[in-house]
Amino acid sequence: MSSYTRRVTPPQPLLERYRDLLARDGEPFPISLGEGATPLIHARRLGAELGLAHLYLKFEGTNPTGSFKDRGMVLAVNRAVGAGARAIVCASTGNTSASAAAYAAAAGLPCHVILPAGKVARGKLAQALAAGARLVMVDGNFDAALTAVRRLGEDGLAVVVNSINPDRLEGQQTGAWEVVDALGRAPDALALPVGNAGNITAYWRGFGRYADEGRTPGNGRPRMLGFQADGAAPIVRGEPIEAPETVATAIRIGNPASWDGAVAARDDSGGLIEMVTDEEILTVQRMIVQLEGVFCEPASAAGVAGVRRLAAERRIGPAEVVVCVLTGHGLKDPDAVQGEEGTLVPIPADLGSIREAMEL
Ligand code: F0G
Repeated sequence: MSSYTRRVTPPQPLLERYRDLLARDGEPFPISLGEGATPLIHARRLGAELGLAHLYLKFEGTNPTGSFKDRGMVLAVNRAVGAGARAIVCASTGNTSASAAAYAAAAGLPCHVILPAGKVARGKLAQALAAGARLVMVDGNFDAALTAVRRLGEDGLAVVVNSINPDRLEGQQTGAWEVVDALGRAPDALALPVGNAGNITAYWRGFGRYADEGRTPGNGRPRMLGFQADGAAPIVRGEPIEAPETVATAIRIGNPASWDGAVAARDDSGGLIEMVTDEEILTVQRMIVQLEGVFCEPASAAGVAGVRRLAAERRIGPAEVVVCVLTGHGLKDPDAVQGEEGTLVPIPADLGSIREAMEL
């Protein structure tokens, strides 16, 4: 790696902003791509539709590689560099690989990613390829890929940057810290999609840590509301799923690595982990962008789909402060958007035809 320190301003690099909570004895964090500091958007129109006056969207799609993974990856890769790693490796449903590839590139490290063949969204694959990661496609799902990666890590040939690497979840706590900093309090409830279950674990730890450090005004902690897709809902069903399936490929996971952490987050917070259908996910993905202009990928909509249902059933009150984490950008998965194809048929380029087509 070259000796320069990359400075990204503004915002201040995430790891510097929370250095006092994250760093070990003044360790350097030379790598940053400008991660974190994502917007917390008061979703007034969507909230009105759902019957929630204080609904907020934490849009993680504005991270450098378009997902929340960058929060943990930046710490994992900085530490891998500090430890003299020669390469990094991960299994992924797509976003982890996109993030790993980018941070490895910035660090000058080779990156190997093991992916389930045919089930990674196009944008994510393009990101990993563009950044020069070495892709291995396996005939199996994410769970099989992660099993292989664990073995590779034990062999010591490369540092594993999946969330079984504790640095990943350490870094992902910053999402919770930013929510508290932005609201000036903890929300009443925080909703998010659950796949490998690292993020719900990290957010819950983050809220706890912030309150314990006296940095959360009012000392509150939210109820944690996790949502799985009904074809990939091992935690809800209480057993691993052999062949998980969902349109939300990011959370197409049958045996989450952080299962225990997710259960602890649910139980200790007085929250819940439930499931939503693919149809609800796609409907709500459209609602979010058509009511708020925020385009997220299908998995991200799972959390909002769950909140929509809880609000309808009055299991969330209309005046509660609810934050939904939109984990990834909609551009990651263009194929998931089912446009009205008919309107895209070309017509003659004269004004008359165009007026007619516009129905004006
Ligand atoms: N949302 C998105 C967009 C994701 O990419 C993931 C996980 C999740 C939610 C679920 O988060 O695993 O912490 O419960 N993606 C991983 C990957 C598995 O490989 O990119 P989790």
